[in-house]
Amino acid sequence: MRRNIVAANWKMHFGINEAENVAERMVEIIKNKTEVIVCPPFVFLDRLSRVFSDSLIKLGAQNMYFEEKGAFTGEISPIMLKSVGCEYVILGHSERRHIFGESDIDIHKKVVSAIEHDLKPILCVGETLAQRKDGKAKDVVERQVIAALDGVDLSSVVVAYEPVWAIGTGVPADLDTINEMHTFIRGLVEDVPVLYGGSVKDKNAFELAHIDDVDGFLVGSASLDADVFKKIIDEFERAKGVN
Ligand code: 13P
Repeated sequence: MRRNIVAANWKMHFGINEAENVAERMVEIIKNKTEVIVCPPFVFLDRLSRVFSDSLIKLGAQNMYFEEKGAFTGEISPIMLKSVGCEYVILGHSERRHIFGESDIDIHKKVVSAIEHDLKPILCVGETLAQRKDGKAKDVVERQVIAALDGVDLSSVVVAYEPVWAIGTGVPADLDTINEMHTFIRGLVEDVPVLYGGSVKDKNAFELAHIDDVDGFLVGSASLDADVFKKIIDEFERAKGVN
């Protein structure tokens, strides 16, 4: 179902005390109507699920393995994520694809397993700069979406379009590109919420949120500061006319 979502991807940042302080500040100030999800590193999930328990903020993980249990040293299963209160899990982030070599097949297995275990996948897709320059952006994104979601019940799925060339640069993709890519993805997944990610900041959230097919954001570095993250949610709501 199409709905507004703003999610924080903390990536590999903070120690437990800092994470808890930021989470507590978020609980104090975030009272928005938009669905808000925070995805901290695995080792903070249990503690933060307690911090978020009486709040509107939902908990997500940044990755998982598709098996339930077994001899998979260093991996985390969907059952473990559920047991510490996760509702969402980010899958197929470009850093997982490009640094850790995750394939479309791996990501498909993870999406299927997440849904089987009642976790809502936030599937990340997006082309590299080289792929865009080659005129292959839509082909790449289409392949990623179709491979990951083949045969999957889409009712709990969220897609995040994150062009690799806009992540961590401070400069998001231009509005025309985002509009074109979101409309394209919408054609593939219809009612699934489609978030934009890649250098979303408090200063650009308003104009990005004006794009009709942008249902929300997946925010990296700007989500590490609770007040900045709150401002992004406020700007998003202002642009969408939520009050
Ligand atoms: P930045 O907001 O830091 O560019 O990161 C985006 C991202 O990768 C979110 O998943």
